[in-house]
Amino acid sequence: MGHRKILFPATHLGLFFILYLLSSPCVSFSFPFVKPKHHKINGPIKTLVVLVMENRSFDHILGWLHKTRPDIDGLKGSEFNRVNASDPYSSKIFVSDDAVFVDSDPGHSIQAIREQIFGSNDSSANPAPMNGFVQQAVNMGVPGMEQTVMSGFKPELVPVYTDLAKEFGVFDRWFASVPASTQPNRFYVHSATSHGASSNVRKDLIHGFPQKTIFDSLDENGLSFGIYYQNMPATLFFKSLRKLKHIFKFHNYALTFKIHAKLGKLPNYVVIEQRYFDVKIDPANDDHPSHDVALGQKFVKEVYETLRASPQWKEMALLITYDEHGGFFDHVPTPVSGVPNPDGIIGPPPYYFRFDRLGVRVPTFLISPWIDKATVIHEPTGPTTSSQFEHSSIPATVKKLFNLKSSFLTKRDAWAGTFENYFRHVRLLVMIVQRNLRR
Ligand SMILES: *[C@@H]1O[C@H](CO)[C@@H](O)[C@H](O)[C@H]1NC(C)=O
Ligand SMILES: *[C@@H]1O[C@H](CO)[C@@H](O)[C@H](O)[C@H]1NC(C)=O
Ligand SMILES: *[C@@H]1O[C@H](CO)[C@@H](O)[C@H](O)[C@H]1NC(C)=O
Repeated sequence: MGHRKILFPATHLGLFFILYLLSSPCVSFSFPFVKPKHHKINGPIKTLVVLVMENRSFDHILGWLHKTRPDIDGLKGSEFNRVNASDPYSSKIFVSDDAVFVDSDPGHSIQAIREQIFGSNDSSANPAPMNGFVQQAVNMGVPGMEQTVMSGFKPELVPVYTDLAKEFGVFDRWFASVPASTQPNRFYVHSATSHGASSNVRKDLIHGFPQKTIFDSLDENGLSFGIYYQNMPATLFFKSLRKLKHIFKFHNYALTFKIHAKLGKLPNYVVIEQRYFDVKIDPANDDHPSHDVALGQKFVKEVYETLRASPQWKEMALLITYDEHGGFFDHVPTPVSGVPNPDGIIGPPPYYFRFDRLGVRVPTFLISPWIDKATVIHEPTGPTTSSQFEHSSIPATVKKLFNLKSSFLTKRDAWAGTFENYFRHVRLLVMIVQRNLRR
């Protein structure tokens, strides 16, 4: 990956800055700026690295791990959807373990997901029945799609994930923040709201989104952050990151990530933006079956190995999640009650989504020398009885982990479960003792 074309990312980055400069009269020329005085982090983790992959449900990636890891809430094999969710006599399609790379994207717009989780347009059922994945796939009219959406990977086909789950932590109750497509969910990762976006709307994306982000909170507290992008930094959709003072926070992944890690120069909060597969930089590479998943595995491994070899590793955690479920079946009901709307904004017509229920469950890993081996994290214990792990758990945890003085970004991260309590001393102490013994 390191030898890939480098000019493209630079062009994209430049293009976005230029678009912004042209489209907005109010560029904030706050450079040079005065850095707030040094902020002390109390906990063991001084660097959190976040990697958000694309479009796969938990059961699709990790469901079949349940066979050898019964402590993980995955698939038993008896789960099914009917071809017609409202006809109890229509035929059943069961989950299968024969997933391969999917050429045609299953549906995952807000209306497609509503049908997937409720089996109809009526979204009042609680718990959500998760019975419309097959029906929605049939309605797409793509041959074989109904089998595809019910398929999951054999654990040996995703060996990197299987190993990470064995060595570190996996969440089996982490949901997408919104039952909608990629971009709104990515916004929640960094700002605990999508500012009303319930789909990927190109025009709005270029115009930029105005909400406060976790990057602003980190900056206010004198902590550092960096975005390591591949073909295009999607974080530039936030207006606050287009400030000139942040221009040096954007790094070309291929050119800098390994070097920064090796030199121990990674900032406190690191976002790795993967190569978005829908941007065709190198079409010649995109023909092979299983290309997508194999590439994803390779990439995750590269990031993990790079971080592990860094002198910062002993004070580091890596969180890997997926933006949304990509239309693939998951058996865990999507939480539909007690979810706060983040900022009072309602989605656009015709759905007027209220941002008061979550998306489908996605695979999420917590990797750190401070995590006990084979940890499975289920539901959070707070801060409220309805709290869940979802993408807003990332800014919520950053605030606690780094004891930021800034307030929560929205009502959503104030509500989301946090994971700072899973970093324990034991393992590191053992490591240190072992190392001393060997000397
Ligand atoms: C699904 O089943 C319901 C109830 O039997 C029926 O009214 C409806 O027409 C069926 N839909 C299709 C597409 O067959
Ligand atoms: C559900 O809503 C969509 C538009 O949002 C419409 O096309 C579809 O016919 C509706 N389905 C049912 C079963 O009412
Ligand atoms: C993920 O979904 C988005 C739409 O939300 C789509 O544009 C993109 O191509 C999908 N990515 C993959 C890897 O399927």
